[in-house]
Amino acid sequence: MTHEDIERAAQAPGYVKNPRLLEWVADVARRCTPERIHWCDGSEAEYDALCAELVRGGTFRKLDGGKRPNSYLAWSDPSDVARVEDRTYICSIHKHDAGPTNNWVSPPEMKAMLERLFEGCMRGRTLYVIPFSMGPLGSPISHIGVELTDSAYVVVNMRIMTRMGRAALDALGEEGTFVPCLHSVGAPLSPGQPDGPWPCNRDHKYIVHFPEENAIWSFGSGYGGNALLGKKCFALRIASSMAREEGWLAEHMLILGVESPEGVKRYVAGAFPSACGKTNFAMMIPPPALSDWKVTTVGDDIAWIKPGADGRLYAINPEAGYFGVAPGTSYQSNPNAMATLERNSIFTNVALTPDGDVWWEGMTDRPPPALTDWQGKPWTPDCGRFAAHPNARFTAPASQCPSIDPDWEKPEGVPLSALIFGGRRSQTVPLVVASFNWNFGVYMAATMGSETTAAAAGATGEVRRDPMAMLPFCGYNISDYFDHWLEMGHAISDPPRIFSVNWFRKGADGKFLWPGYGENMRVLKWIIERADGCAPAIQSPLGWMPRYEDLDWEGLEGMTREQFSALMSVEREAWLREFLSHEELLLKVYERLPKEFVVMRELLLASLWRSPPVWEQP
Ligand code: OXD
Ligand code: MN
Repeated sequence: MTHEDIERAAQAPGYVKNPRLLEWVADVARRCTPERIHWCDGSEAEYDALCAELVRGGTFRKLDGGKRPNSYLAWSDPSDVARVEDRTYICSIHKHDAGPTNNWVSPPEMKAMLERLFEGCMRGRTLYVIPFSMGPLGSPISHIGVELTDSAYVVVNMRIMTRMGRAALDALGEEGTFVPCLHSVGAPLSPGQPDGPWPCNRDHKYIVHFPEENAIWSFGSGYGGNALLGKKCFALRIASSMAREEGWLAEHMLILGVESPEGVKRYVAGAFPSACGKTNFAMMIPPPALSDWKVTTVGDDIAWIKPGADGRLYAINPEAGYFGVAPGTSYQSNPNAMATLERNSIFTNVALTPDGDVWWEGMTDRPPPALTDWQGKPWTPDCGRFAAHPNARFTAPASQCPSIDPDWEKPEGVPLSALIFGGRRSQTVPLVVASFNWNFGVYMAATMGSETTAAAAGATGEVRRDPMAMLPFCGYNISDYFDHWLEMGHAISDPPRIFSVNWFRKGADGKFLWPGYGENMRVLKWIIERADGCAPAIQSPLGWMPRYEDLDWEGLEGMTREQFSALMSVEREAWLREFLSHEELLLKVYERLPKEFVVMRELLLASLWRSPPVWEQP
C-alpha cells in the first residue's frame, strides 16, 4: 500500500503524521471491519456529542441538571461489572517471565486465538482512535498510548481519566512511540440489528498484555479496568514491565502532600489493597486539633516513580481523573471525593433517585424511601437487595478535587519522603512501624497481607498475601519485581523511608482500636517527622515505632497509654504464624526469589525470639 492508501484506509485527518499509528489503525480497521473511523480530538464539543449519542442509544441517562450538572448514569450488563482477573493474561515469550502469579499463554497461540475473535468484531460500529498521555503532557516521566475501541462509553471515560485527544497526538509527533491498546466490546452488529445499552461478549473475555512489545489487546468487556486501558493495563501492568527495563517504578499507590504549620511541604506515596480506605487517605482532612496541617492530593491510585538527579525519587500521577468505588463514599467519610463528583461526572451501576440524582449504600445515613436500582428495577430499603452494585463507580475529573495539590501536574513530579504500605488486619499488625532500612521495608511490603471483607466471596477474616498491593497488576515475574525493588534502593542515594501501617487492628471486644479517617493524620505527622529524621522512636522486634508520648494526642479523647500499647504490641506466637504464611508465598515464588529475602526473614525471626513473648511499649 502507498502512504496515501494507508491514510485513506485509516480515514485520518490531515494533521495525523505518525506513520506507525496510521499503519496500525489501517490494519485494525481491515481486520475488525468497523462501519466508520472517528479520530478523537478530545474537545468538549466532541465529549458532549458522544454523551448525547450515548443518551439516545440508552447507555446513558442524563442526571438532573440542577442536582448533578453535566453528569450521566450508565447501568452495565449484569455479567460485566468488574475487572476479570481470571481472564487477564501476561503473554511474555517465556512463561517464567510472567511468573507464578500471572495467567500465561504463549504469544503466538494467544494472538492466533485473539485474531479470530477480533475478525469482523466491530461490524456496524464506529472505531474510535483515542490518543492519550499517561502523565502530564510534556513530562519526561509521561508516556503516550493510543486506544482503539468500538465503545463511545470508553471514549468519554478516557477523556476524564487521561489527557486525551489532539494534544496527545501533537506530543506523539511524527516519530514518537506509543503503547497500542486495542479494545473491542466483542459485539458486532448485523445490518438492521438494534444495539443494546451495554454491548459486551458474555462468552469470551480476554485482557491480554504482550510485555515484550508493550501492547494490550482487550476483548469482550466494556467495564472499568478491562476497557479503560490506560489505567491497570497500561499504567500498571505494561508500565511495571517498562519500569523494570528502564530503572523506575510503576506502582499501585496514592500520592499525597503534607504541609506542616511552618509551611514545610513533604510528599508520601502509599500502597493499599482495595477496601482499605485508599481514596479516603489520599483526600484526608486532618482533625480540628491538627487543622494547621494541610493534606493535598496528587493521585489516588497509581504512581510512576523515577530517580531524580539529586538521588531522590520523584512521583507523578499518570491519571487525570478518579475511577473510584462509590459505595461507602459520603460527605462524612470523604467530603473531598463527594465535592469532586458534584458535576461533570459519569456514574456506573449506582442507583437513580426519583428526582434524577444518584445514590449508593453508605452515601447517607438513611436511604431514600424509593429508588431505581442499578439493574433498572424499583427498589425500597426493605427489598433485601443492594441499590448500587458493590463495585459501582464514579468517573470524575481530578482537577475538581478541593484538596488537589498545586503541583499535581508538575512535569518532574514531586519528591517522595516516605513510602507507606498498609493492609486490613484485625490482629497481629501494629498501627505503624518504620522499617530498619530499605531492604527490610521491601520485605515487609512484599509479604503484606489483607483480610477479605464480608463483601467479598470466601471466608471473612482470611488473610490474602498481596505484595505491594500489586498481585493483580504486576506485569512480570513477581520475584523479579522484588529484585527490582531491592535494586532501586541501591541505585539511589537518598531513598524515601518505608513504613507499614494498619488502621484496622481490633481489641478483644472486637472493636477497632484506632478511630481512622482524619485521625490518621496523627500517624502521618509522625511518619513525616521520622522521615525527616527528627521524630523520636523506639526499636521493636519489627522496626522503629513511636512511643505514646511521640504522637500528638491533642483533641483525641480516650486514647489511653494502655490502648495505644495494645495497638502497638508485637506478639511472638502471632508473628510466628505470620512468618509461616510469608513462607507460603515465598515458596511459591522461590525460583527467582532474591537471596536477601531468606536472610531478612531469619533476622526478623531472631529478633522476635530475642524479645519477650509479648513485646510492649516501655
Ligand atoms: C481499582 C482497583 O479499581 O484497584 O483501583 O481495583
Ligand atoms: Mn486500584
